[in-house]
Amino acid sequence: MNSQMEQGPRFRHFVSPGPSVSVTLDGQALELPFGVMLAAALLDRGIATFGVSVTKGEPRGPLCLMGTCLQCNVLVDGIPMRACRVAVRDGLVIERRLDPLPPSPREVPRG
Ligand code: FES
Repeated sequence: MNSQMEQGPRFRHFVSPGPSVSVTLDGQALELPFGVMLAAALLDRGIATFGVSVTKGEPRGPLCLMGTCLQCNVLVDGIPMRACRVAVRDGLVIERRLDPLPPSPREVPRG
């Protein structure tokens, strides 16, 4: 990894980000740039874990940034959405699922 990647911003901005607006992420207030895609805005803030895997609880985050991998799913205003397809706007309430699901009693143990 070169030094620019280690020290510079995660994304290069081709257009100026909009003014900051207030959102809530897991109950914490956060300022994000208006109009930027939510996944990119969170990644730019160093927030890369958007959820955890169902079975092992491993961190999951955006992979494709174009709406196909579903790794960026979060609740936005209570509705499951792909964060890479939602533009930041004032007042968004974002929730991540950071706890793995409990094992199902019907699950067959892997050997
Ligand atoms: S990052 Fe792949 S669907 Fe959002």
